[in-house]
Amino acid sequence: MRRLAVFASGSGSNFEAIAAGCKSGAIRDAEVVLCVCDKAGAYVLERAARYGVDILQFNPKEFSSKRDFERMIADRMDALRVELVCLAGYMRIIGDELLERYGGRIVNIHPALLPAFKGAHAIKDAFEYGVKVYGVTIHEVDNTLDGGRIISQVAVPYEGDDIEALEEMIHKAEHKLYVETINRILDK
Ligand code: GAR
Repeated sequence: MRRLAVFASGSGSNFEAIAAGCKSGAIRDAEVVLCVCDKAGAYVLERAARYGVDILQFNPKEFSSKRDFERMIADRMDALRVELVCLAGYMRIIGDELLERYGGRIVNIHPALLPAFKGAHAIKDAFEYGVKVYGVTIHEVDNTLDGGRIISQVAVPYEGDDIEALEEMIHKAEHKLYVETINRILDK
């Protein structure tokens, strides 16, 4: 079994797509061994508990630096022999400690066709810009915001004016693309 960690700060629908994918076999020979969350009360914590996944929840403000909390995360991942880190709505830039120890093994999902619409409000930004083709990107993680080599993308055409319907379409596309892409990465 390949061992995954999923980092999330919010609802965790992508966490759940990955955890469910491992359970059903849609993601082959893999299991989520750790959920890392930097927000107390985030809904992803309930999802992780439901899937019986170990949780590492921490408050970044209780650490004197990013290096300090990332050292704690990396130590826990070493102990669990994590092979691949999937960022799933983890709203922080990954710092040097994690890049030095897990670089090349960290991927992120972003709800836009990068390099367009980086940042924390990509769907709203693209909607307000008036684009007609939205999308999802999965990329390798480096020390830039939503930067790093693109691994996979999918387009989501939408010309309507209902942002909630659009968000639903994009999240659905994310869940499917993450499962497919993790299989591809683990197959290599
Ligand atoms: C997802 O749409 C993900 O692509 C986005 O946060 C959402 C988390 O949803 N990430 C970013 O915007 C990264 N810049 P989820 O908690 O339901 O998986």
